[in-house]
Amino acid sequence: MDILDVDLGARAYPILIGPRLLAREGAAIAARIPARDLLIVSNTTVAALHAPALGAALPGRRIVEVILPDGEIHKTLANVARILDVLVANRFGRDACVVALGGGVVGDMAGFAAACYQRGIAIAQVPTTLLAQVDSSVGGKTGVNHPGGKNLIGAFHQPIAVIADTSTLDTLPDRELRAGLAEVVKYGLICDRAFFDWLEGNIDALLARDAAALAHAIRRSCELKAQIVARDEHERGERAWLNFGHTFGHAIESATGYASWLHGEAVGAGMLVAASMSRACGMLASADVVRIERLLKRAGLPLDTRAIKADAAHELMRLDKKVQAGRIRLVLLRQIGEACVTAEYPDDALAATLAGHFG
Ligand code: NAD
Ligand code: GLY
Repeated sequence: MDILDVDLGARAYPILIGPRLLAREGAAIAARIPARDLLIVSNTTVAALHAPALGAALPGRRIVEVILPDGEIHKTLANVARILDVLVANRFGRDACVVALGGGVVGDMAGFAAACYQRGIAIAQVPTTLLAQVDSSVGGKTGVNHPGGKNLIGAFHQPIAVIADTSTLDTLPDRELRAGLAEVVKYGLICDRAFFDWLEGNIDALLARDAAALAHAIRRSCELKAQIVARDEHERGERAWLNFGHTFGHAIESATGYASWLHGEAVGAGMLVAASMSRACGMLASADVVRIERLLKRAGLPLDTRAIKADAAHELMRLDKKVQAGRIRLVLLRQIGEACVTAEYPDDALAATLAGHFG
């Protein structure tokens, strides 16, 4: 088992990473989740697969479960209200802990409910998708979608622990694994060129679920995210790099009703658009855009966004949380391994980039 720390002073917390943690590391898990009263939040798919093992790792507790419907369209305030209702109905106190078992959808909703209940109770994240293990379970962003835009309602609420049992990925569909790889590639692009090089050499092993390759990818991604979050918890600066590809990606998800593109897939396609925009702004070399496109294609990610109208995408981008004084700020690449956030780009470069990628 690897243990990384997210260094946030009094709110520091560990990320436990390794195979068969639920089955074999019950004592380590129980020590990090000390509350007696636990509300396990999961969804219909994940609960059936992994809730018994989680319960067995936490013996002697009072455990109540909330099982939500599966899917991004269910990431709503109404479902957060359901979680809160169960906390109230069971008279959970401030010493209780919410335990999120699932992907980013479950984790974001459970985290937001924990942030709201009695002005904030503990949340432990037990991520079961690659995307959640490398990104959403770490860093304390919680929330839900609004009909007007993605993740518009939410709060920062750091977990007390992240338990990333890599064996839970054994049941994850291949398409979801590929979607998670998009966020892994993101780390190489924004801040670690050597990791991007490593991904080029190991993408086939990752797709084949080679245990050592997956362990390295998860550990390195968590290290990089933990460092960024420790330096900029509330996204005053460099944490925005983690949104590379997301301004375009959220527009893709929103334009298609959160139905046909998985979040990670939309981020993958959005990263290619952001790379093209970086080239259009004279930052990124054309050869690097080609490298990025090749790696995303090899990861099996969909990149064809022409079914979405460029005007619609542009309009949806205006809802991005990085908009300041009406101006869309973009995360772009100066080179592979070096991101920046800027509102200083030529509008015609953005229009041409959108026209090049969207219909
Ligand atoms: P998800 O939570 O919808 O999970 C994907 C699918 O995999 C679901 O159908 C789920 O039921 C299933 N699943 C999960 N674990 C499984 C397992 N072990 N075996 C079989 N099936 C399993 O999607 P996701 O990709 O994990 O997360 C995407 C969400 O995360 C988006 O809502 C996004 O906004 C959010 N997100 C949040 C942050 C953050 O910092 N909070 C960062 C990135 C993404
Ligand atoms: N996934 C973006 C962030 O955590 O900041």
